[in-house]
Amino acid sequence: MFQKKPKYEKKAGLKLYQIELLNKISPAGTDLFPKTGYCLGEEIANPDAILVRSASMHEMELPASLKAIARAGAGVNNIPLDKCSEAGIVVFNTPGANANAVKELVLAGLLISARKIVPGIEWVKTLKGQGAEVTKQVEKGKSKFVGPELKGKKLGVIGLGAIGVQVANTATHFGMEVLGYDPYLSVDAAWSLSRNIHKAKSLKEIYETCDFITVHVPLTPETKGMINSQSIQTMKHGVRIMNFSRGELVVAEDMIQAIQDKEVRCYVTDFPTDEMLGIDGIISIPHLGASTPESEDNCAAMAAEEVMDYLENGNIKNSVNLPAVQVERGGDTRIGIIHRNIPTMINQITQCIADENINIENLTNKSRKDFAYTVVDVYGDVSSQMATKLTAIEGVIRVTIYR
Ligand SMILES: NC(=O)c1ccc[n+]([C@@H]2O[C@H](COP(=O)([O-])OP(=O)(O)OC[C@H]3O[C@@H](n4cnc5c(N)ncnc54)[C@H](O)[C@@H]3O)[C@@H](O)[C@H]2O)c1
Repeated sequence: MFQKKPKYEKKAGLKLYQIELLNKISPAGTDLFPKTGYCLGEEIANPDAILVRSASMHEMELPASLKAIARAGAGVNNIPLDKCSEAGIVVFNTPGANANAVKELVLAGLLISARKIVPGIEWVKTLKGQGAEVTKQVEKGKSKFVGPELKGKKLGVIGLGAIGVQVANTATHFGMEVLGYDPYLSVDAAWSLSRNIHKAKSLKEIYETCDFITVHVPLTPETKGMINSQSIQTMKHGVRIMNFSRGELVVAEDMIQAIQDKEVRCYVTDFPTDEMLGIDGIISIPHLGASTPESEDNCAAMAAEEVMDYLENGNIKNSVNLPAVQVERGGDTRIGIIHRNIPTMINQITQCIADENINIENLTNKSRKDFAYTVVDVYGDVSSQMATKLTAIEGVIRVTIYR
């Protein structure tokens, strides 16, 4: 998915960017930084950017030099987002980089929810020491572990984002009839979705018709506890449910009851809790969704690409605190301005540039809640006085000149 070679060739004589690594980051990411333009290390005094996995940054002093933080992973609760926004630091994450890893485990989940592979393996272990009897016992005992095939069954995929789309598409190759539900489907996801997926109009349609249901939504006030006794009541008797998203999407006691009543035949979760352990019909996996070396590599590579494109071109992709702005370079100098999302800002910025007799080649402005980002491409030399004037505009947080 990611280029092996750095995309951005550094011009000779340009500054050396300092990248601090707060955690061990896979070489699949660190090797992408060209050695001529970047210095990477664990302890860097004035970093331009930080790459981090799980280290907590809440107590950390954020140096004035810091322009970007990239989290190699999805969750960003180890990063003080508000503090970063106030300081004009762009925080990136790597959505979808672990989607394939999760998809593969979900497919395993579907298989082990149908065929009694896990209890079967456990039972075979108990035959240890029976010598020639083992083969006979296996043939005699295997009927206890019969389970249905996936082919021809209906699978409901709730949430068609990075993971849901891949699960839905691949499940069709098992011969499953796949229904997808996502009221906020993105254009990218719509493009990636196989035309064999039936678009369900409501959750009700999924609940009432599907033999297998898999949930791939974020945990929000809307989705919290969405699988509960009421929703289970509307599902097909003996439904099998996969949860590789977040434990709190499912009301644990309702699920346990439904399993005991055989309303739900099997619940496969990547988020074990004490109450669920040891219950027949609940398969608990120790949060292995993204635990693959490839997933770590993908996250590191994506984080490195995001940081390089921001430091060198001012482009923002996959930020969690600032708007996405990705513009092909125009002119010979780019001015990136992070500012508050307030009126007259664009006027003041363009006036400041016009005062220097510089012609604007291209201007892009995007906002996200209280903050906004303006990228201006110009021809001509942008003086340090002009950068200072731009910085002095009330509401401007950070000005960066890209040559
Ligand atoms: N098990 C793991 O190790 C692991 C790893 C990565 C991600 N996850 C979890 O998987 C989930 C999905 O991740 P993703 O990368 O596909 O996210 P994503 O943001 O790409 O996709 C989420 C999708 O859910 C949709 N959605 C939001 N609210 C919805 C609703 N009420 N009904 C239906 N659809 C709704 C969104 O429109 C979006 O398309 C997240 O909860 C994430 O935390 C788990």
